[in-house]
Amino acid sequence: MLRGRRVAFPPSFEEAALSARASAKLVARPVACLKGRVRAPGDKSVSHRALMFGALALGETTVRGLLEGEDVLCTAAALRALGAEVTHEHESGGTWRVRGFGVGGGREPGDVLDLGNSGTAARLLSGILASQPFTSFMTGDASLRGRPMQRVIEPLSRMGARFEARDGGRMPLAIIGTDEMVPIEYRLPVASAQVKSAILLAGLNTAGETTVIEPHATRDHTERMLRHFGAEVRVTPAEGGGKRITVVGWPELLGRDIVVPGDPSSAAFAVVAAAIRPGSDITVENVGLNPLRAGLYQTLLDMGADIAFENEREVGGEPVADLRVKGSALKGVEVPAERAPTMIDEYPILAVAASCALGTTRMLGLAELRAKESDRLASVAAGLLANGVKHEMGADTLVVHGTGAAPSGGGLVATHLDHRIAMSFLVLGLAAREAIAVDDGSPIDTSFPGFAQLMNGLGAKIEAA
Ligand code: S3P
Repeated sequence: MLRGRRVAFPPSFEEAALSARASAKLVARPVACLKGRVRAPGDKSVSHRALMFGALALGETTVRGLLEGEDVLCTAAALRALGAEVTHEHESGGTWRVRGFGVGGGREPGDVLDLGNSGTAARLLSGILASQPFTSFMTGDASLRGRPMQRVIEPLSRMGARFEARDGGRMPLAIIGTDEMVPIEYRLPVASAQVKSAILLAGLNTAGETTVIEPHATRDHTERMLRHFGAEVRVTPAEGGGKRITVVGWPELLGRDIVVPGDPSSAAFAVVAAAIRPGSDITVENVGLNPLRAGLYQTLLDMGADIAFENEREVGGEPVADLRVKGSALKGVEVPAERAPTMIDEYPILAVAASCALGTTRMLGLAELRAKESDRLASVAAGLLANGVKHEMGADTLVVHGTGAAPSGGGLVATHLDHRIAMSFLVLGLAAREAIAVDDGSPIDTSFPGFAQLMNGLGAKIEAA
């Protein structure tokens, strides 16, 4: 386990980052407004994939702008255990280099792979490990051990791998891989980029063509980046709607140079903080705006947020812009279920914006929130309750009644090892009448190391409680 792990002195950069996890209560105090210019941290989804695909390629891959958060460091450690050489320039923010083992070329890991808090690492690596002719074991923290893995076990078993899991397909997991996988055509029962990616990655080491049909489009970083590494990935319309995504087995992937754009999910915290504090004027630079990730920004515009998309450009094959955000009066809106896959990680921070808006915000189609780092629907509802925000939670809906005035605040929010719950309620604390505390801010380091410092640089007051 990573938490509280002791490491020999002097610790390496990653060991220091991974061992600095003691539970930490944080508090955010109300502030007048936010001002300044910051840069969004590297995209978590793209960072995981850059390291993994670099490991599946021959030759050297360089990665600039990698997110050096705990989740991605877990992926780096797992890939090393499989035989990839993963190194980085000593200072944080430097270039990372991967010397891969090639498709199907990994070696049996000598120990259990500990993937910490990271669902993306666990699901995507399952696809890679399932198609290797050895047995591997994976586990994670209490949050990850509670999350559903059946959604990858099922399709990967159809391809020929075998799994042993705890009840309900939970980790720890044994993956008994095979290099004689059979290609499948698989219709995703849940809108999940992780499941899609796991199958496509298994398809790389499978003779023939492996196809995933996705009724509702999810983030397409895997498809974009696999092509960049030289794989043949075809995307065509599926009969009855959605997409058919086909990968052709046994490509020769070659090392590439990757530039990771800023993470729209992380940028969202500063953006919403400025949007709900009148008088604010901030710029968040380098925000990735892949259309399959940008649903929150559309929703904020619908609510009347003042966001200008400046300096629009491409970074690493993804659309990117600098976001200038001014505080303004927001109004409640209805967020349709069809938009959920494009903002699946942003509902906690949207609930914060909705708490400060005038009128009712209805969020529909949220069933998948119950399978995130925590039951995010329940965690958000509990946080709203603790801070005087009127709301109703349904099986897959959340309705928030904003009054246009600052919520009372003053609550203590349980984060349940969920980084986005911690950051969202700290943002609400900046705009509430009384300070808001979170019981454990340490999971923030999984996706956004330096969050409090970055926010405080804009004028926030987030500190240890
Ligand atoms: C991710 C996909 C999403 C998202 C997660 C990252 C990815 O999960 O919530 O934070 O990088 O593919 P699901 O595939 O479970 O929707």
